Amino acid sequence: MELNNFLLSIDEDGIAVFTANRPEKLNAMDATAWHELLTFFTQVNERPDVHAVIITGAGEKAFIAGADISALREKTPANTLSSPAPLATRAIELCCKPVIAAVNGYAFGGGCEIAAACDLRIVSENAVFGLPEVTLGILPGAGGTQRLAKLIGVGRAKEMILAGKNIKAQEAVSIGLASQCVPLDTLLSAAKQTAKRMLAAGPISFQLCKKLLDASMSADLESGLWMECLSLAVTCGTQDKHEGVQAFLEKRLASFQGK
Ligand code: COA
Repeated sequence: MELNNFLLSIDEDGIAVFTANRPEKLNAMDATAWHELLTFFTQVNERPDVHAVIITGAGEKAFIAGADISALREKTPANTLSSPAPLATRAIELCCKPVIAAVNGYAFGGGCEIAAACDLRIVSENAVFGLPEVTLGILPGAGGTQRLAKLIGVGRAKEMILAGKNIKAQEAVSIGLASQCVPLDTLLSAAKQTAKRMLAAGPISFQLCKKLLDASMSADLESGLWMECLSLAVTCGTQDKHEGVQAFLEKRLASFQGK
């Protein structure tokens, strides 16, 4: 796929770093950028060369400073209904492989929403999350009102979205918006270490757990527990379960095949 707004590198462990690359605009997302994000995540599930994805931003100042505000002038009700932005964040959320946001500065608007759709957020000390859309007369439209409320609670989400409160790195960790805060120059290596830990999981176990955890945000307890029971039963029929148990008993690392 052709990339004009992102850089893609894939290391020997299959960890892809997908970097928003418009540093002169603090990596703000125009329609083409949203389409590239959507296409990439639609294809990632099928790509054998990619085992995990880290999303980050080019430069030292911003992760992604939101939707490109100059492009907002062209927004109409009709083209907003078919916007790729909510589809892109949903594709991130539905990705069956680990997805980590390495938040290296401003994560405003759509940038905050992209980060919220990832499995984990690791932040550098200069990271700031914010959702200033209402000051532009619009609102967060890539999952912000929904995912943020579920991640940090509706009260804190209201502080951010309605009262314009920005959340800095340390506070993000303390409220559970981010899992870890590290110096900027170690951000990518910290994200890769976490990705490697996630890749130690059996792939079927990982995918089922990710879906169960996401479902826990909206499913009632009874349904969630039943889905969990069925999913555990599925894992108990896999070669990976046999391999994982044997590897433990033989005091060696498991070699999972995803079967
Ligand atoms: N869309 C388009 N351009 C953007 C942008 C965005 N979301 N965010 C930043 N930029 C551009 C600025 O216009 C500026 O361009 P210029 O040099 O051509 O004037 C450049 O990126 C640098 O930004 P600047 O505002 O000078 O940096 P700063 O350090 O003073 O402030 C922010 C950083 C993030 C606080 C500020 O840029 C900002 O508030 N951006 C908008 C965030 C936003 O509202 N996002 C949600 C959009 S729906």
